[in-house]
Amino acid sequence: MEQATHHRVVVPRRGGPELLEVVEEELPEPRAGEVRVKMLAAGVSAYDLMVRSGRFPGFPRVPFTPGVDIVGVVDKLGEGVATVEPGQRVAGGPSLAGGGYAEFVCRSASELVPVPPGVDPAQAVCLATNYLTAHVALHQTASVHSGQRILVHGAAGGVGTALLELGKLAGLELYGTASKHNHELVSALGATPIDYRTEDFVERIRRLTGDGVDAVFDPIGGARQLWRSYRALRNGGRLVWFRVAATSKAGMRVIPLSLLTRFGLTLIPDGKRAPMPPMPGGMLRQRWRRCSIRWQPARSSRSWRNAYRWLRPLVPTSCSSAADTLARWLSLPAHSPLGPPLSLC
Ligand SMILES: NC(=O)c1ccc[n+]([C@@H]2O[C@H](COP(=O)([O-])OP(=O)(O)OC[C@H]3O[C@@H](n4cnc5c(N)ncnc54)[C@H](OP(=O)(O)O)[C@@H]3O)[C@@H](O)[C@H]2O)c1
Repeated sequence: MEQATHHRVVVPRRGGPELLEVVEEELPEPRAGEVRVKMLAAGVSAYDLMVRSGRFPGFPRVPFTPGVDIVGVVDKLGEGVATVEPGQRVAGGPSLAGGGYAEFVCRSASELVPVPPGVDPAQAVCLATNYLTAHVALHQTASVHSGQRILVHGAAGGVGTALLELGKLAGLELYGTASKHNHELVSALGATPIDYRTEDFVERIRRLTGDGVDAVFDPIGGARQLWRSYRALRNGGRLVWFRVAATSKAGMRVIPLSLLTRFGLTLIPDGKRAPMPPMPGGMLRQRWRRCSIRWQPARSSRSWRNAYRWLRPLVPTSCSSAADTLARWLSLPAHSPLGPPLSLC
């Protein structure tokens, strides 16, 4: 007998995790252009926690179901969908639609990319937004080159660790701010840790590097933080600001202040730049759609082996099959010294 109802997690009003409720309701019906996905795994991201706790007042409207990153099986097609087939495994990435904390979710077919068979759904779901954000920020927004130095704020976080792992693969010299208890992790990922709670990171970077870093990746935001990140740059450096974790302490005013500060920094004629960051609703989403064409099993065993070599150091041994997952998803050119940028984008 066909399943008629399903369960989903609902945020009935803004607040802590204790507010989350599980409701049973009729299966959602896909509209034209949509696909109903039977969930296998959902990611829990910083964004999910921010919207649940009310960091962006009024958005999304309550009640809502969080869950941006999803992996599941195509269950039903809406009218006009021809890009995927029932039974196919798919992943949904950077989209503000959410809805992933559920047994079934409807997503636009254009937001879904195929997941190769045999890939663990829980590992696949970890790779979407964080690695894509890190990849685009490193190779498109900041255009880093081997041998350059970068400073990553929130280095022990989801995007931060992805930046360090991809940065190491690109041959960068890495520095990362994190709380003391995360320094072991940051060091293990190949970066010099800086305790942002007790140290002045601008001074520390100057002491460690002499003239500063080539790029700073700042998900914290706020006028003072962005100005200090800018000061940590050497001439010609790029400040990549992507989001506002600082709203947790300083509230919503961080957003306009960060935007103004970024704009002001672009006016300083000192050779440094503050390019626009990858946003989930814009460039990142377009990239994700393009990934659907490229994220396929490697074409030859040689390129697969090469991809594997490149990507193996991405994750600790305990979850080394996530590296296999990536290797299988990315079709890397066998001889490219810059495998990731050429393959993913
Ligand atoms: N494309 C996009 O725009 C995009 C995509 C994904 C995520 N994001 C945003 O990026 C931010 C980080 O996401 P995430 O998933 O990496 O979060 P996460 O896993 O929760 O990590 C956040 C980290 O920030 C650190 N932190 C907090 N205040 C800090 C400060 N003043 N200086 C340095 N580090 C600080 C914490 O480090 P300690 O625990 O070591 O103190 C924590 O590990 C969020 O705002 C998220 O919304 C944006």
